[in-house]
Amino acid sequence: MITLLVNGQPHQVNAPTDMPLLWVLRDILGMTGTKFGCGIAQCGACTVHVGGEPVRSCLYPVGLIGDKPVTTIEAIGSTPNGHKVQQAWIDHEVPQCGYCQSGQIMSATALLNQIPAPTDAEIDAAMSGNLCRCGTYVRIRAAIHAAAAG
Ligand code: FES
Ligand code: FES
Repeated sequence: MITLLVNGQPHQVNAPTDMPLLWVLRDILGMTGTKFGCGIAQCGACTVHVGGEPVRSCLYPVGLIGDKPVTTIEAIGSTPNGHKVQQAWIDHEVPQCGYCQSGQIMSATALLNQIPAPTDAEIDAAMSGNLCRCGTYVRIRAAIHAAAAG
């Protein structure tokens, strides 16, 4: 049995230590906001925060988490920067199909937690691992600047 702190709540999880965090979140805890895209850490759809750092949950073994807190898209809106990012996403009508957007928002929030007013180059570097088949990149960049501006 593994104890996980997810979105501020402790959970007892009966899972092998090598099970990817994404499977635990979606299939055991029923938190389906985090998406499965490629499954090989190449698209960013599954991004969550572990200990405040953005990670690809599709390849992150749950046994590595230990006592680090996990934050997912279900709770990021209750953090200061997560709330600003989500509001900017709405204001700029960022999502198209929406599939990649949980991961985009998690990466954008992690960026603002680290760099409060990122440049275009810093945004591109931080977001380069989050792919969007709908090509919403221009709106993502604008929304991150808006969120940074408050
Ligand atoms: S599903 Fe994890 S990076 Fe694509
Ligand atoms: S909004 Fe469709 S994949 Fe990004």
